[in-house]
Amino acid sequence: MIATKRAREIREIISDLESLKDDPRYREAAEINIGFFKAARSPFGFIRWLLFTAPKLRRRRDELLELGDLPLEKWQQRNYQALAGVERHSFGRRISDGFTLELSRAILRVKRIKDGGEAMVLLDVGFGGGELGYRVVEGLHRVPLVYIGLDITPANIGVAKEVFRPLCERGKIVFYEVPALNDKVIDALRQEASDSSRKVVAVCLGDIFDLDKHVSPGKTDLICHSRVLHHIKAALKPRLEDVCRRLSPVTLEMDDRYCFGFMLWSIVGTWMIYPSVTLLNGAIISWLRDPAKEELTGYFKLVPPFCYARLILGQDAYFRKGKWRMAARTLTRGFSFREGRG
Ligand SMILES: C[S@@+](CC[C@H](N)C(=O)[O-])C[C@H]1O[C@@H](n2cnc3c(N)ncnc32)[C@H](O)[C@@H]1O
Repeated sequence: MIATKRAREIREIISDLESLKDDPRYREAAEINIGFFKAARSPFGFIRWLLFTAPKLRRRRDELLELGDLPLEKWQQRNYQALAGVERHSFGRRISDGFTLELSRAILRVKRIKDGGEAMVLLDVGFGGGELGYRVVEGLHRVPLVYIGLDITPANIGVAKEVFRPLCERGKIVFYEVPALNDKVIDALRQEASDSSRKVVAVCLGDIFDLDKHVSPGKTDLICHSRVLHHIKAALKPRLEDVCRRLSPVTLEMDDRYCFGFMLWSIVGTWMIYPSVTLLNGAIISWLRDPAKEELTGYFKLVPPFCYARLILGQDAYFRKGKWRMAARTLTRGFSFREGRG
């Protein structure tokens, strides 16, 4: 029964991808993904794809797109719903436990540095369905906090509303969907969290690369992005770092690493434990785009089991002020440093 459902789903995906081939912007990505889904029809076909096709794709990793990156709203929605589901599943949670801890630790460090009565503002760019945010907000007691999630995929806003509903119903948070992010909106959210015992969570549909048109430097205390970098085209990656450095004194970048363990974990997880062919596609194409341990530069840290965190300090203007200059040592504690970015 499950096998039939899987075969039917793969057939539908391939047919939708076939129609995308008419658009020259997506033709190549559609062909790569059609090859992936044809291989995923059987374990034997998939092993062959991993052995012979995957290494070639790794060499062209900057051009790769997964199903969720393509303009097929139905599959984007299914994919992000499944992602939120697997992240709540005990098996999936384990891979994000390290992330959650790392982000919570960074929030507490920044809070200690700020040392004022007002609430902190954390901006999670590319926050997906909000599962990471949910776990951080739920786990941090007595920290006045505004958690803002920005994402470019409309389906994720709906998923996030559902994810945060239980916290809202228990009176732990106030939840808003804001139409745009700008200084006025951020100030109002900060004020509300400072005056209340509840945390404020706000979600917004938007593009990371438009942020600096409307938000001024220093309006956020911490920016984070997790599992987003591999979705960004190579030419735009420095721009993402630049936006983060200008807007915030501290940014935490997190992602998975290109390693055998993560590939195996993804296949076992999405084929057997939490079967989803769209998640299998997302996990494996993401894995091909992820950096290997040896490629990490700047202030970085390996986060078990298969992830990394990278600390990006903001522009010089923040660090000329005594508070952040003194704080840099605290912030970077526990991180290794390798010449390069950061
Ligand atoms: C793999 S998901 C990660 C979601 C979540 N951060 C997590 O760790 O589970 C990557 C997210 O980045 C979002 N994204 C990609 N490019 C973006 C952009 N330019 N602006 C905002 N969000 C973006 C996608 O919509 C997607 O939700």
